[in-house]
Amino acid sequence: MRYNQIPKSLFIKNRNNFTAKMRSNTLAILTSNDVKHNNADDVMGFTQNNDLFYLCGIDQEETILIVYPEANRKENREILFIKETNEQIKIWDGEKLTKEQATDISGIARVEWIHDFEKVLQLMAFEADGIYLGHNEHIKRVTFNQQTQQDRMINWCKEKYPLHDYHRAAKITRDLRPVKSEEEVGLMQQAADISVASFKRVLKACQPDIKEFQLEAELAYNLIASGGTRHAFKPIVASGKNACALHYNTNDDICKSGDMILLDFGVCYANYNSDTTRCFPVNGKFSKRQKEVYSSVLHCLKEGSKLLKPGVIPSVYEAQMAKLVETELIKLGLLDATAVANQNPEKPLYKKYFMHGTAHHIGLDVHDVGLYTRALEPGMVLTCEPGIYIPEEGIGCRLENDYLITKEGNINLTRAMPIEIDDIEALMSS
Ligand code: GLY
Ligand code: MN
Ligand code: MN
Repeated sequence: MRYNQIPKSLFIKNRNNFTAKMRSNTLAILTSNDVKHNNADDVMGFTQNNDLFYLCGIDQEETILIVYPEANRKENREILFIKETNEQIKIWDGEKLTKEQATDISGIARVEWIHDFEKVLQLMAFEADGIYLGHNEHIKRVTFNQQTQQDRMINWCKEKYPLHDYHRAAKITRDLRPVKSEEEVGLMQQAADISVASFKRVLKACQPDIKEFQLEAELAYNLIASGGTRHAFKPIVASGKNACALHYNTNDDICKSGDMILLDFGVCYANYNSDTTRCFPVNGKFSKRQKEVYSSVLHCLKEGSKLLKPGVIPSVYEAQMAKLVETELIKLGLLDATAVANQNPEKPLYKKYFMHGTAHHIGLDVHDVGLYTRALEPGMVLTCEPGIYIPEEGIGCRLENDYLITKEGNINLTRAMPIEIDDIEALMSS
């Protein structure tokens, strides 16, 4: 493991919270993700299924978790199934988890080999009235064109046990996962701290005519050297007008003197993420116009992030953030105040320069699970990321921090990442 082992108390607590929300006499089956293949025998890599990880901490492929809190036999209440290793796997891939290690990580006493899953389930399935199954319920349905391990489990269960009641495990985890425990916040703070060091490294390396991917390499170096496990998402290193493409990530352009760079990146440490955006001038000095736009976005971030506090409904926050950006767009001469006053509220004019939402939950997923109809609560962590994009001026500016909601308001987990114009210029000239 590249990260320090997480105390198993976190996963035990998560399972207790999960099972407390299950209907009476049901069991839940959670599966790991697949190892994704490229071509031939090459693999893209492995990212654990986050609901499974949340409930047991096992970061290995071919893992299944069953929880059945009302099972008659105590040993059937929690069972973990892991891949059995053999000499071949040892020779080619190295060590896999032993049953003892799996118990130590998860706090689950009973660990079986995954090839015994069907047999073990058969012995307890008819005792239960219903089965909870995992599914990727993300609003963007990103896995719609691929069959996941979860899809296969749903199909298999429904064929094998057609008369059980079926329930959505994701409905429970989307209630639980948005509110982070102290241990989770600690892991997210570690991800944020690695991000801060990465950003400072990029600032030091930046100079006119450097390639965007050379700056991406600075991020990668620090990420791996810090023991962070991977990028939270493919980093965006967008100079000049490239910054106006919101998810630009080819990072293959030359950074020209006079342009500003938008750097949106995240660190995934122990499966917990940070997500930050900073902008800085290629030559170390913001132009007058870049300063104006940057100051407007920074003002929106400072004012808008104050709205991230308990009781606020995300849609109300987003509407207030849009007002803040709209006011700045008028000040910058990009929108006309009279036209704004008379605009069609269904098609607000600010959308020409500011076209995305500015707060998402973050945690095990960068765009973490959670309903946006739910009011903010202490323990939630959200980004705040206003932006202004002016392709005709070759300027795209977004600034993004991660905020932990507290009883009193919020704490910026990424506050150590330089953001004031003077601080960025001073670091770039040092
Ligand atoms: N980079 C994606 C986001 O900021 O949400
Ligand atoms: Mn981001
Ligand atoms: Mn974000």
